[in-house]
Amino acid sequence: MAIRLDRVAPLASLIAYDYADGRQFPGAPMLNLQIPHATTVSALRTRIRGWREERLSVGFVPTMGALHKGHLALVQLAKAQCDRVVASIFVNPAQFAPGEDFEAYPRTVIEDSQKLTEARCDLIYLPTNEAIYPDGFATSISMTGPAEGLESVTRPHFFNGVATVVAKLLNQVRPDVAVFGEKDYQQLLVIRQLARDLDLGVNIIAGETVREADGLALSSRNAYLTPPERQKAGHLNVILKQFAADLQAGQSIETARLTALNACQTGFDEVDYIEARCADTLAPLPPGRLRASARVLAAIRLGTTRLIDNCAALPS
Ligand code: PAF
Repeated sequence: MAIRLDRVAPLASLIAYDYADGRQFPGAPMLNLQIPHATTVSALRTRIRGWREERLSVGFVPTMGALHKGHLALVQLAKAQCDRVVASIFVNPAQFAPGEDFEAYPRTVIEDSQKLTEARCDLIYLPTNEAIYPDGFATSISMTGPAEGLESVTRPHFFNGVATVVAKLLNQVRPDVAVFGEKDYQQLLVIRQLARDLDLGVNIIAGETVREADGLALSSRNAYLTPPERQKAGHLNVILKQFAADLQAGQSIETARLTALNACQTGFDEVDYIEARCADTLAPLPPGRLRASARVLAAIRLGTTRLIDNCAALPS
């Protein structure tokens, strides 16, 4: 039986519902959540209106779930900036192309809710598909600028899907501050551009990448790595840091890039890109030595898993 929740759960109440008709968590058992949560826009806004009446500021951390310490650090950052924090979990079909891992993407809403409770997040927004893409939904935001190149070469659908869902979520929550991880650096710049272009009135804040001891950036997709792949994966950060150091030491961008590309081709199964770009716009850099702040970014594949990472590169 599917029990749909149409209002905000009172604090610490035990509410059972499922998403059988929302297609967000196919086959999920009944969920018992003990943290205030909302699944509809009206429930979400009721809770937030209460905070606004108390003149409290609101921070927002949008996620696709499968939460790790990187996400929880974003929640902490939002808590440091705002009186109340909302985190959303929505696996957004519009940012996956056919054949990508939408179906396989880990859905761990019970564990995620426990982690958010421990992180003292104030409200979890778990929109059903209908709350985001109601019947007849016909809008897609088309991004250029920082969305061009890099990720868009292999995932041309991706940033339009991200921009559409993020615009929708930001409009539903209307936070003062929204926090996005630097691990998805191109996404961060795309969302800043989106917020600026559409006057969304939200301050977009960047959270630093959280890493494993060997440098591997935390990502929900790391769960796909086999043990031998996991052993190799940390090397991506080593290569990027060396790329940034070579630029800082005065090597030409092309020489440093070729060294980094060779290292990636030796260490990984495929290289989608490894590039140095302008840190603020992701525009290509003029040839020669680095003259302004840059970002080095890469996407590689280990088996069936695609990993991305990036780091800052400063001129000497
Ligand atoms: O970075 C993510 O987890 C997603 O792209 C986001 C921003 C939650 C949009 O679905």
